[in-house]
Amino acid sequence: MSTHTAIFDRWIRSAFPQINSELEQLYWQQDDKANVEGLGEPLKQQLKDEGNALISNLLAEGNTDEGFDSAFDLLGNVGLFMAACRRHEITEPSRETTSPLVEASALAMHIGASIGVTPRFATAHLTTHNKALNGTYKRFTNLPDEKLFIDYNTQGILAYKRASDALLKILPLGISHPTCAELLKVAKQALIDVIESNNALYTQLDTERFFNCVRPYYKPHRVGNEIYRGANAGDFAGINVIDMLLGLCNANEPSYSQMLVDKFLYMMPEDQQILREAMRMQSFMDDFLQAQQYKDNDWFKYHAKLFIQVCKLHGDTAIGHHNQLVEKFIAQPSKQMQQQHMSKVTASGPPLHVLLDSLEKLRDKRASAKRDDIKTRYDDINLLKQWIK
Ligand code: HEM
Repeated sequence: MSTHTAIFDRWIRSAFPQINSELEQLYWQQDDKANVEGLGEPLKQQLKDEGNALISNLLAEGNTDEGFDSAFDLLGNVGLFMAACRRHEITEPSRETTSPLVEASALAMHIGASIGVTPRFATAHLTTHNKALNGTYKRFTNLPDEKLFIDYNTQGILAYKRASDALLKILPLGISHPTCAELLKVAKQALIDVIESNNALYTQLDTERFFNCVRPYYKPHRVGNEIYRGANAGDFAGINVIDMLLGLCNANEPSYSQMLVDKFLYMMPEDQQILREAMRMQSFMDDFLQAQQYKDNDWFKYHAKLFIQVCKLHGDTAIGHHNQLVEKFIAQPSKQMQQQHMSKVTASGPPLHVLLDSLEKLRDKRASAKRDDIKTRYDDINLLKQWIK
């Protein structure tokens, strides 16, 4: 790590969360907690000046090739700074046509383009690729609510990855291989872990704190001329690998492929590669349906039963995400929010009802729900159930 990179990293781990936390305390004392205007101006100035000065040094240093990991890590640090400036409205994408953080934009675009990811902080920077020093990893604030949110996001993502890794291992073996059953059991347990972790988040996270003091750091912001959407816990390949390998979602459906196209650059390059490969595979659902001639064999009955259980659990994770997490922590508080702040609610930019509608469709596909307006595997799952009765 170069000296300038190390100094910037120290700042991101010390003064940066301190300033953000002090600002959060000021906002929190207001009746309208969503307002950030006219408060803590000296703190905002300090954040901007210190961040810009440290980044200018890095920019002047140029591209010292120290490998992917340190480039990705530095991008995360620049990204956290830019996201915090957006949160405190030091920048505001509808007010500007280009980011006023000129040096930070230049550095982020340089690194992002060179390693093949978006030039902003991504979920991986805060969750799966966030190095802890003496037990403390990088965060925006010192608030326990943010730590709780990141801890459970990390757990959920890692559990989904365990499920997707197990399913990927079935591909070279085939659905009739005896080891397929073991791998489906691993996937089952991993999805149960997702559900348990999401349930814990649901009961422990404070809605008002999350909505007002954590979520605002995930807003869309400009880097250079472009607006980049906020990060969300879904920006990893595993969730879509599960969708497609199970056969619950299909890469050739326009709404689903649109989502994949939009999220590619928000993922780590290794995840981009995994997702690309999964998009070309035939699903296990289709494998089972095409193996109808074996439906009375023991292996078919046993493996298809496990497969249906995995599908059910994957649907349950989506139902929990939508009906519990999204409903409690986004939809409900949004309704109460003052109209003037409404345009700023979601991380990804579209109006809330549009976002909720697309998440609902995704939930119903994953749950193989009966719907007439979109394609789900409701009939196919029922057919498989009939065969193994
Ligand atoms: C996407 C809300 C936690 C998995 C989203 C989106 C929202 C949302 C509103 C849509 C995109 C956006 O606005 O940027 C929440 C809330 C959470 C939470 C309020 C907790 C307080 C989690 C956790 C996971 C997760 C713990 C587990 C890994 C996903 C996935 C997506 C997503 C996979 C992408 C869309 C999809 O494929 O379903 N989330 N989320 N979320 N979230 Fe969460």
